[in-house]
Amino acid sequence: MKHQITAYSTRLRVLVFCITLQFVACICIVASAQSALMLATTTQTGPAKKTVEQVQKNIKVLNGLPESQLIPVMNYIRASLGVKCTYCHVNKDGKWDFPSDEKPEKTSAREMIKMVQSIDKTTFRGNPAVGCYTCHRGSTSPVRVPQLPLPLPEPTPAVASVETAPKETPPTADQILARYTEALGGSAVIEKLKTRSMKGTWLTSNGTSLGYEVYQTAPDKLYTVLNTPKQGVFERGFNGQSGWEKSSRGIRELEGEELFYLRRYPDLFKDIKLQGQFARLSFGGKDKIDGKEVYILRGLTADGKGERLYFDAQTGLLLRRTTSTPTMVGLIPEQIDFEDYRDVDGMKIPFTIRIASIDPFYSSTRKFTEIKLNVPIDETKFNKPAAPPSPRP
Ligand code: HEC
Ligand code: HEC
Repeated sequence: MKHQITAYSTRLRVLVFCITLQFVACICIVASAQSALMLATTTQTGPAKKTVEQVQKNIKVLNGLPESQLIPVMNYIRASLGVKCTYCHVNKDGKWDFPSDEKPEKTSAREMIKMVQSIDKTTFRGNPAVGCYTCHRGSTSPVRVPQLPLPLPEPTPAVASVETAPKETPPTADQILARYTEALGGSAVIEKLKTRSMKGTWLTSNGTSLGYEVYQTAPDKLYTVLNTPKQGVFERGFNGQSGWEKSSRGIRELEGEELFYLRRYPDLFKDIKLQGQFARLSFGGKDKIDGKEVYILRGLTADGKGERLYFDAQTGLLLRRTTSTPTMVGLIPEQIDFEDYRDVDGMKIPFTIRIASIDPFYSSTRKFTEIKLNVPIDETKFNKPAAPPSPRP
């Protein structure tokens, strides 16, 4: 029953998405939504998602925004204007009062949010074409006039040089994905993958190095341990249904954004089995990352996120994955880099994963020193631990 409801609401979301974007390719998305549904139902958990106005105290313009997107959206606004949260929100003696309307900047921001919503709705047919960053580019006062003197225009390349360039037929998305599967070790090895355990460090965006351990079983059970110098040990788990965290502060449920991030990295197959994750996927050209030539695939997920996948043209391995999530105020970007691929039991595994996000909390570098595949993992680890016998004073 629960599964049906989730499946239904996903279909609805896909339809709503199509209507708002007036997608010509809508039909094909709905058709492939069937296969994408499986993915969507496993990546989205929990009952009907709450909107911000149902949870927060003083929402006037972001009505309808999923609660899980509030903090990412606030971080996007912060990054777009190049300011801190205190630019719009009151912090008295270290205590936040987010609902307060005391600061005029918050009122200006509301006007701007309304403006962006209106531009996207009326001029761009519901596409999130204009966001805060479009004008602000990291500053509170957008540049209004071209900066003089203008740079000299680039010389137009001679036509001859274009014509002599050897013509190359670009690979198709299917070929690139098939090559990636081979580069990882082949589908037989991938299908055999049942568990993974990893040990290493989690380097935060402000340079703190934390001890990090991950235990996973297919398809989506997870247990992680984060060892922090100041706040002790954070244990987190997901048992296929619900997520939790246990720390010196007690035990709590994880929801929304936190649950999403817990499961996103390193979801066992998310970056291994790419087939079937996209409603559309096509070749998007060539580029270079750190001097290495890469093939780019451009994809659109069933829930409307744009993705780019960058494959090493030489080895076929996935080097980078970028996501942009459409929201009411703009596209929220995220970038994951996969480095230091090593062989573990016949499979290539990245020992360094670099995550860049507009949210400093999620920006981090995870470096592993030990990765083991298919070793038995105690299944009870994934369940929420029982509350401690006596409450803390
Ligand atoms: C440029 C201004 C601006 C910045 C910077 C900003 N916010 Fe906001 N924030 C707003 C506005 C405007 C609202 C109210 C939106 C509405 O009325 O729908 C809001 C609402 C909120 C709320 C909901 C408050 C409530 O109970 O109604 C929270 C929580 C919040 N912001 C957190 C943050 C955090 C955390 C940061 C820093 C990462 C941040 N904001 C940065 C403008 C800003
Ligand atoms: C179409 C361009 C454009 C977009 C898009 C835009 N802004 Fe602005 N914004 C401006 C301009 C121009 C100003 C400066 C107005 C002035 O100088 O008086 C401004 C000023 C502001 C200010 C007031 C700064 C101050 O000094 O008081 C805030 C806050 C702000 N914008 C927030 C946002 C937020 C949040 C978004 C996204 C929801 C956004 N803006 C999107 C053009 C834009």
